[in-house]
Amino acid sequence: MAVVIHAMHQTGAIFLEQRAMNLPFRAGNTHEMRIASTIYRKENYALHRVYMDANATTPLLPEVVEAMRPYWMEHFGNASSIHLHGQQAHTAVDQARETLAGFFNCHAAEVVFNSGGTEGDNTAIFGLLRPGDHFITTSIEHSAVLQAAERVAHHGVETTFVAPQPSGLIDPADIQRVLRHETRLISVMLANNETGVLQPVEEIGNIARAAGAFFHIDAVQGAGKVELDVRRFGCHLLSISAHKMHGPKGMGAMFVRRGTPIEPLLVGGSHERRQRAGTENVPGIVGLAKAAELAIRSLEDGTIDRLAALRDRLEAEILAIPGTGLNGSGDDGLPVPRVANTTNIFFDQLEGEALVIALDLKGVSVSGGSACHSGATEPSHVLMAMGLDKTRARASLRFSLLKTATDADVDDVLQVVPEAVEHLRAISPVAAGTLG
Ligand SMILES: Cc1ncc(COP(=O)(O)O)c(C=O)c1O
Repeated sequence: MAVVIHAMHQTGAIFLEQRAMNLPFRAGNTHEMRIASTIYRKENYALHRVYMDANATTPLLPEVVEAMRPYWMEHFGNASSIHLHGQQAHTAVDQARETLAGFFNCHAAEVVFNSGGTEGDNTAIFGLLRPGDHFITTSIEHSAVLQAAERVAHHGVETTFVAPQPSGLIDPADIQRVLRHETRLISVMLANNETGVLQPVEEIGNIARAAGAFFHIDAVQGAGKVELDVRRFGCHLLSISAHKMHGPKGMGAMFVRRGTPIEPLLVGGSHERRQRAGTENVPGIVGLAKAAELAIRSLEDGTIDRLAALRDRLEAEILAIPGTGLNGSGDDGLPVPRVANTTNIFFDQLEGEALVIALDLKGVSVSGGSACHSGATEPSHVLMAMGLDKTRARASLRFSLLKTATDADVDDVLQVVPEAVEHLRAISPVAAGTLG
């Protein structure tokens, strides 16, 4: 009986895999492919998996879980209360603030805890810009910046979106060129979430200083991967998110340089020096601080260099597949400066979404160069801004490694990618020229 059930599972898996792979890969069928892959996954829960989507989110490290543990039940106090329970919580928050100050290279009083990257990005924009102001940002920012810019446009704030070079780098001269007398804020990300490309924030900081404009850095994807130094960056505001660096979801922090006249997004209690009302999320704050402490260690102990070597091996071997190329390289074809864990590769003649699902079926989690908006698959705005055409943007995949990634993870991924690409190209309507 067991043998029969096993055989049925095998057949079902093969059927679903075939079904998923044989669908014409148009937006309308993505949903169906997702269903097929969900059923397949449910039936193959024991499948060994490799997670290479660290830029989407990361798991908590055991040390982070341990650090947070007492603050759920034992030390559950409200950090604003004056009794012992409150004091325990307050002390934990103070210590975490000191850790974050070390992480940012700022004073503890310049650290504001919040709910993550979206809140930090929104706070910088809504908190500083007023009707008549001019705002400069880039066309490759996260939607937390782009959508906020769209909203302030309804309130008389004009935004200039600076496009990247084909490499994904923002040229500081382009920022300089669009500066105006009324430019109040410049917001540029430290590392791009899709390509990992590191932006020249120090040079942009100098431009902001000379122009008397405020400078915000979305450092969500850079934090934990490169050293943060708000003094060197010359920024007034910098946002990070805990869940991108092995901390808890819904938790983040912001550097707010002393004297920056920022209006809080949330008002109510006098928490966070009146900069962000709401009872402090003590376990989250403790978890973020532990994640930051471990991130500092990883930068110093060679973990990040080891990660870069793993990413480079993965990338080199995937690029050996014909019809592939790197998104985020300079005129010389070499990668521009980028974070250690990310590579973004296009696979001509196939649909990225189909490859994401095919790899998922084989136990590998990665992201594609498309995002689902209102049920339709749109090519990535970042890749499009870099000048890729729609087909190539759709044919792109992001591999983003956890800092705990191993050689075996890379081997496993390299074992399935070439085969999946070959198979999909053989059956793909894109390869057959049947898709526009
Ligand atoms: C560059 C960047 N900024 C902001 C965010 C939003 O962060 P959060 O998920 O903490 O709201 C993300 C998340 O993907 C991101 O990659």
